[in-house]
Amino acid sequence: MSLTAGSSAEGGTYPPLDVAALAEAIQGQRLGHPLLYVPAIGSTNTYAFELARDGAAEGTLVTTDDQTAGRGRIGRAWKSLPGSQLALSLILRPRFPPHFLVMASALAVFAAVVDVTGLEPGIKWPNDVQIAGRKVCGILIETSDDFAVLGIGLNVNGSLRDDPELAAKATTLAEACGHAVSREVVAAMLLGRLDALYDALQAGGDAAQRRIRDEWRARLVTLGRRVTLRQDKHTVSGVAEDVNADGGLLLRDDEDRLQTVTWGDVDVDV
Ligand code: BTN
Repeated sequence: MSLTAGSSAEGGTYPPLDVAALAEAIQGQRLGHPLLYVPAIGSTNTYAFELARDGAAEGTLVTTDDQTAGRGRIGRAWKSLPGSQLALSLILRPRFPPHFLVMASALAVFAAVVDVTGLEPGIKWPNDVQIAGRKVCGILIETSDDFAVLGIGLNVNGSLRDDPELAAKATTLAEACGHAVSREVVAAMLLGRLDALYDALQAGGDAAQRRIRDEWRARLVTLGRRVTLRQDKHTVSGVAEDVNADGGLLLRDDEDRLQTVTWGDVDVDV
């Protein structure tokens, strides 16, 4: 079967992920093999982490139609949209610092969203992908001494209108572009983009790292904005001036001190 954009069913229910079509679409790539599909699972990241610890190959992909205990950054939960979301976890063995994986994964999702919807997304520091200020994708990277698990949650189809609290800050690709989107197409595009970026980083050298960091920086919608940073119960307000070479956020706080922020959640003040 070949894949065409927008081939998912219209309406509220969606067919299960067409794993054979996805496997065919990503043939020849380093990332996405073996492709392990489980109809329902607690967290694809947790499962992939266990597999990686047991020696699973680089490129192994775990995916599901219903992630019942999805995990987000900073201990948050990630809401499942059964059958209309992408929940992917990749086992990687990067030979480069993890912050480049943060940048590369956000860029890969960014590019796939552009390819599939024609819309103009943005990256909220460090790696949320948004459309018109509302989140469509979250990324959770978990590392160990000799591997990393890259977890990507992308809201593809359906609507969040039944969950007003979530709908205020998040959306789906379908909601944003006005038509259903093939999850297989967007997954294949995302994995293809990521494959190229990951290959360049694994090959080593400053040039690829600098290029990826510069592209990521150019897509950040956070820079130049007044923001509030949350780190657990601690909050800081200020202006997000720039990012450093490692992707740390340079935040000019209200006492005019330039703070380098390496983790946390940033919201643009309205
Ligand atoms: C965030 O925005 O806080 C990150 C959300 C990451 C969600 C994905 S879905 C696939 C993978 N499995 C998980 O449990 N989490 C990630």
